[in-house]
Amino acid sequence: MGYYQEIAEYYDLLMDGGYYDHRMLALAVQSAIGPRKRLLEVGVGTGRLIQELLKIDSTYDLTGIDFSQAMVKIAKQRLPGYVPIIECDVATIHLNQKFDAVVSSGGTWVIVQQDDELLLGTHLFNKENDIRGLQNIADHLDPGGLLVLSVHPPHEDRDIKLDNGIVYSQKISSVNDASDHFSLEKNYCFKKDDNILAEETLTLGFYRSTVFLKMLADIGFKPLGTVNTDKFYVFEK
Ligand SMILES: C[S@@+](CC[C@H](N)C(=O)[O-])C[C@H]1O[C@@H](n2cnc3c(N)ncnc32)[C@H](O)[C@@H]1O
Repeated sequence: MGYYQEIAEYYDLLMDGGYYDHRMLALAVQSAIGPRKRLLEVGVGTGRLIQELLKIDSTYDLTGIDFSQAMVKIAKQRLPGYVPIIECDVATIHLNQKFDAVVSSGGTWVIVQQDDELLLGTHLFNKENDIRGLQNIADHLDPGGLLVLSVHPPHEDRDIKLDNGIVYSQKISSVNDASDHFSLEKNYCFKKDDNILAEETLTLGFYRSTVFLKMLADIGFKPLGTVNTDKFYVFEK
């Protein structure tokens, strides 16, 4: 089983429990991108950000991609049929289409604010894949297009009580933050009365700023920083 398959049916319950506030995030995306309308969300999940973006501005031209078949199925059920939701991996994406901005909100890449340092967090498994994926993103942007990544605090152990007596529990381990590119394991589960309903362990990668800023610069991305909102960090092609 791949990532985000078995937990997909519980994902929206977690979001309803306050893990992400998609309305607030959609307003923050709007602030970050200004008048740009053609948006690609990478790691669209169950489509909640796109749903909120459409409520804010129905003229957004939105496309979502995700490599989890189970998440894509829910996103397609949620969103109007005219919004393309494509099952594919960002490391191999070729849509033959340009966008004004590519957004990853808790998706394939994020920015993590750890003390005074910024890290690039990634769901991809190695540097080669990250470079290929980021290059693919650049290829889908016109000059002046934006890469917009959500900003998060570092991962930590937490439990969240959800509806129907279900508890979400995440535990972080295997942290080896001595190198410039390190990873951690995030084990999370949904349980009820101590019975595990669904469980997954993700390996998440992290690059220190010296590494990821050079990686993005080599691909042609210039950091603009947090623009009009502290929820998203913006790079310009
Ligand atoms: C934490 S979820 C966030 C979903 C959504 N953006 C939200 O705000 O609820 C991360 C998503 O990224 C997707 N993802 C991770 N790596 C990916 C990749 N290489 N290509 C496409 N999707 C990926 C996962 O399948 C998952 O649905």
